[in-house]
Amino acid sequence: MKKRISLLITLLPLLLASCSNKEVLQGKETSLIKENITAGKEDIIYPDATPSVPDGQIVWQKLNCASCHGIDGKGVNGKSSINLSDKNYMNRQKPVDQYKFLVYGDSQGKHPAIDKLVSRREAWSLVFYVRSIARPPATPEQVMEVDAVFGSNCAVCHGKKGYGDGPLAHNLEPIPANFQDFKRFYDRTDSILWDHIANGIKWEGMPNFLGKEDKAKNVQFTDAYIWKLVDYVRHFHETTEKTLPSSSQESKGKNLST
Ligand code: HEC
Ligand code: HEC
Repeated sequence: MKKRISLLITLLPLLLASCSNKEVLQGKETSLIKENITAGKEDIIYPDATPSVPDGQIVWQKLNCASCHGIDGKGVNGKSSINLSDKNYMNRQKPVDQYKFLVYGDSQGKHPAIDKLVSRREAWSLVFYVRSIARPPATPEQVMEVDAVFGSNCAVCHGKKGYGDGPLAHNLEPIPANFQDFKRFYDRTDSILWDHIANGIKWEGMPNFLGKEDKAKNVQFTDAYIWKLVDYVRHFHETTEKTLPSSSQESKGKNLST
């Protein structure tokens, strides 16, 4: 017994070193889950309809977020140093944390809270607009392009419409993810989705795709193609269509200009 423990102790640093050296996460998403922004204690209220990126842009303009963040999100000198157009930063943000930060403000009360200014759907649309500054969502053309690849590689488990109800689904435990499930997917960073599609989820029936190919469709599942799949998965729970007619904007006309 003692021997085994000491062996473990000698091997542990080696094991740890070999993990941390890898660029690819190989299913170890916990490190990324922790990398999120300050989240308040307040409740998350999920939207009543799919959040819309163009609606969110209207909210961004109405609330004058650009007065500190700039039209391009890169930040106005002396007002904000954060670069909202930085993909590496944005890929590590969960929609739920961004929602809490924007709606209730930050924990030190420095960031303006908008819970009194917008409806819940507008708040979620704003979250997805902010995300789109760094990662533009899949266009309808891009969605169509990936549709066929999704159809032959993913739909057998996830279902054609992403409800997690493909023909193989009832044989799997846990069942395949339902891409329309706001609660699940707003709690994921884009990096985690990339990692799960690239490296699979061990023991849980989600296969790994990085480095494989779909010969019939002439598609290689490269790093870049996995990102296309992430954007495709996101299109099930955010939309690039306007959902609110501009006359029925619910926000109360105030803004945060400084
Ligand atoms: C008065 C200036 C100001 C206004 C107005 C403002 N922000 Fe900010 N925002 C900041 C500052 C300051 C930070 C903290 C980062 C920094 O030091 O630059 C920040 C941070 C953020 C972050 C990053 C949070 C994080 O920790 O990763 C997001 C997202 C954000 N703001 C979105 C918005 C949106 C959307 C609006 C419009 C509703 C808005 N901001 C309005 C100044 C502002
Ligand atoms: C053999 C069945 C199967 C196939 C094929 C499959 N998946 Fe999955 N997938 C699963 C299962 C099962 C889960 C749920 C695992 C869990 O809950 O831990 C899952 C989960 C996921 C998740 C959610 C990960 C998360 O962080 O919650 C994503 C995204 C995903 N799959 C994308 C894809 C894509 C894209 C394809 C095709 C390129 C695909 N899957 C093909 C079975 C499959």
